[in-house]
Amino acid sequence: MGIFVFVGASSAIAKCSAQLLISSGHEVIGISRNANLAVYTAEHQVTNYDLTALPQLEGPIDGLVYFPGTINLKPFHRITKEEFRSDFEINVEGAIASIQKYLPNLKLSHNASVVLFSSVAAQTGMPFHASISISKGAIESLTKSLASEYASIIRFNAIAPSLTHTPLSEKFVSTPEKLEASRQRNPMKKVGDPSEIAEVVSFLLNKATWMTGEILHVDGGLSSTRSI
Ligand SMILES: NC(=O)c1ccc[n+]([C@@H]2O[C@H](COP(=O)([O-])OP(=O)(O)OC[C@H]3O[C@@H](n4cnc5c(N)ncnc54)[C@H](OP(=O)(O)O)[C@@H]3O)[C@@H](O)[C@H]2O)c1
Repeated sequence: MGIFVFVGASSAIAKCSAQLLISSGHEVIGISRNANLAVYTAEHQVTNYDLTALPQLEGPIDGLVYFPGTINLKPFHRITKEEFRSDFEINVEGAIASIQKYLPNLKLSHNASVVLFSSVAAQTGMPFHASISISKGAIESLTKSLASEYASIIRFNAIAPSLTHTPLSEKFVSTPEKLEASRQRNPMKKVGDPSEIAEVVSFLLNKATWMTGEILHVDGGLSSTRSI
């Protein structure tokens, strides 16, 4: 059974993934700015995801998942330097710090896997997504770069969802009209459920032993199909 560390553990996708893994006998340690999430095997509360703020953990870690993300959609000319920086800090710098912090623990495992979160907007151009697409594009490049650098000891993969029903996306699905409009924008005419992403998180941590450097598009076909 594996020991997994989830950074950004309050995420709806994180909690769903933790429930799935713990019900299969794994241990999942949650690290969050929030306390008492009532899902995890153990919890650590932190103020942010800097290298110095993350808790020291002893022994091997079989998997690390970095969940924090943002959806800050605005016309390009209105996005401030501070907003670009904030999105980059939450999406990318926190991931870098988390990987650097737990690299020694991951190296002690015989099946170490790191899972990062991108977005459909990294590879598919979408209006108003400039800031998030830059950050998630960096996550995809980081995934491939580290997959190469650590190929013989740690697998690195990323998941790129489209709109999934979580607090992050609430403003796009908060009324029946918005929900229906969001559904209609997807080839499968639905918004993703956190449980559908959790299955992929579990697969990448436990089963995908011959996969590294991959970006998995879990998006109802939004990035790969078009109607004619
Ligand atoms: N939901 C979607 O439609 C969608 C689509 C594409 C990609 N994604 C990606 O999926 C991942 C998980 O998101 P989710 O949908 O599960 O969202 P969620 O339930 O709303 O969770 C938000 C996440 O962001 C973190 N966070 C929020 N504000 C932060 C801040 N100021 N500083 C640091 N961390 C902050 C939270 O960490 P704490 O535990 O510390 O609160 C939590 O991990 C994200 O990387 C997101 O970009 C989601």
